[in-house]
Amino acid sequence: MIKNKLSKLYTTALLIAATIGSSYAQTNKVFTVKANQVQAPVQPTMWGIFFEDINLGADGGIYAELVKNRSFEFDTPMMGWKVLKQGENNGSLLVHNRGELNGANSRFIRVSSKTPTGNFGVSNEGFRGMGIKKGDQYDFSIMARQLEGSNMALNIELVNAKGEKIGTTTVTPVGKEWKTYKVSFNATATEPKASLNIVTKGQGVVDLDMISLFPKNTWKNRPNGMRADLVQLLADMKPGFLRFPGGCIVEGRTLEERFQWKKTIGNIEDRGFLINRWNTEFKHRLTTDYYQSFGLGFYEYFQLAEDIGAEPLPILNCGMACQFNTAEVVPLENLDPYVQDALDLIEFANGSVETTWGKKRAEMGHPAPFNLKMMGVGNENWGPQYIERLQIFTKAIKAKYPNIQLVNSSGTDPNGERFDYLNGELRKMNADIIDEHYYRKPEWFLENAKRYDNYDRKGAKVFAGEYAAQSVGIASPDNKNNWRCALSEAAFMTGLERNAEVVTMASYAPLFAHAEGWQWTPDMIWVNNLQSYGTPNYQVQKLYSLNKGTDVVPVLLNNQTVTGQDGLYASAVLDRKANELVLKVVNASDKAHNGDFVIDGVKNVQSKGTFTELRNDNLEAVNSFENPTAVSPVQKSIQVKNKKVNLTLKPYSMNVIRVKIS
Ligand code: AHR
Repeated sequence: MIKNKLSKLYTTALLIAATIGSSYAQTNKVFTVKANQVQAPVQPTMWGIFFEDINLGADGGIYAELVKNRSFEFDTPMMGWKVLKQGENNGSLLVHNRGELNGANSRFIRVSSKTPTGNFGVSNEGFRGMGIKKGDQYDFSIMARQLEGSNMALNIELVNAKGEKIGTTTVTPVGKEWKTYKVSFNATATEPKASLNIVTKGQGVVDLDMISLFPKNTWKNRPNGMRADLVQLLADMKPGFLRFPGGCIVEGRTLEERFQWKKTIGNIEDRGFLINRWNTEFKHRLTTDYYQSFGLGFYEYFQLAEDIGAEPLPILNCGMACQFNTAEVVPLENLDPYVQDALDLIEFANGSVETTWGKKRAEMGHPAPFNLKMMGVGNENWGPQYIERLQIFTKAIKAKYPNIQLVNSSGTDPNGERFDYLNGELRKMNADIIDEHYYRKPEWFLENAKRYDNYDRKGAKVFAGEYAAQSVGIASPDNKNNWRCALSEAAFMTGLERNAEVVTMASYAPLFAHAEGWQWTPDMIWVNNLQSYGTPNYQVQKLYSLNKGTDVVPVLLNNQTVTGQDGLYASAVLDRKANELVLKVVNASDKAHNGDFVIDGVKNVQSKGTFTELRNDNLEAVNSFENPTAVSPVQKSIQVKNKKVNLTLKPYSMNVIRVKIS
């Protein structure tokens, strides 16, 4: 009995101690913000988006087309398709190839039906199925022609995973000439794994091509549009720039397979077609049905950037294929067409409608220029072969367009021989902007919050172009988008912000991953056919971007910048548009700290401010389709007394404080 009582008392004492521990056992930290000592402007471009067609990011991702291999151009022409009821008594199917005659879209299928009852046809499986929503409208289109004497109709059927119809319509091709037929219908049920059947009605022979199905509800309801939920997640970040189309995809495995922007514009059916270099890159994540239809092309990327208020940043191939793959280079004497592509792209984006390429932009629907200000030459290229080619590009671009800022590669890693060589050479060349990439462990991010404190303030600017903490190892399939990684990025980003004089742009990478079609993890936003969510890393990026401010000011702890003392990291900016001071403080430690923030150098600080806390006690916490906001910010209002803010900086937390100043 006594033993029991004692044990109860002991447990209660432990509980009280634990409670006191979490609420009160805090160390006291006094931060001083020198709000009148502006160190550098924060560039409007500072926090942006890196887009690459990796992990089904474009086809099967943000590009809302639901039909995979819509024009039968995959290396295996019927990949993604199956024939319904093939057999002597039903009908037959033949893939025709017009070769050069039809440029990019050389193939079509010839469907001969012998069955008057109508059950012969083809079925498309979509990208890991098609995500269909009950009541939504779907826009079907097809290029078709009837052969002499044939008079067939086509039943268009959306079916769920059980094969039950969840939406139907009919198309009747007329005549021997190719024509595009468009028809819309509504879905009667929600289904993540639908497929699309095209079933012949009657006997005869029809030729079919460019079979397409889009939801009507795309971003801005545009035909050939993008998934509205995914663009919304990007727009919500208010990004400073949009980098596209990669990534290694720019380089291609071979020069032949490099990304060529001119093949991605114009009429959809005339655009190029290319295997995606992530198709077979990772043996453990083979994605043999990964191709680029270029339905999402350079025009659409520019339009997307404009829609979400981001500066466009296209990256072009510099005459080198991926050095992890073939490492092919184009001889210097043959580099002209590559350089011309860069010059023509600037004309496409900015030229008047009288210019060759400006006219093409206008014909696509955008007579006003896209106002391109910067461009990347090369992705993760390295060695003297890169510098030689870059010099030729730079000379030609600067001669014609001296105001275009060029982004140059510093290779694959943020240190080591490759990096040192390139960094040295690029600075000798007076490079505008150097693109640094870091895929490292969370500890690296914590240790490197000071990375830019001693960088040359006068020389080239830095673009932290691709970064993500890797919980296991670079691109390991076991990596997780957990709070540990996101928190370490948040800590590191205080260093990017503090050094806005050097670092003018930053973006997490990669951006999207399809839950059933990814090759690389971690990724900022995960999607399936019906849903999407931002990871904790997304929440961190968004908090920085929404609290970008306009000018960096010092925030000091014991007269020193806050770069990891007791697990604390901090940076501060003024927001001149809102007349606010914005503080970001990351507590990467397992202890709470009591923080006093003394705001020096201003006349007044309004008594009410806001405090946004992003935290989780569990460093392994992740967001998911089931719980998309497990790690998400919470906003409260706070009191300011005598120009002082007092807050508890909880363990494992990112904190954003905004106060009105004058
Ligand atoms: O973001 C994934 C890949 O990482 C990019 O394509 C490449 O630039 C880097 O190696």
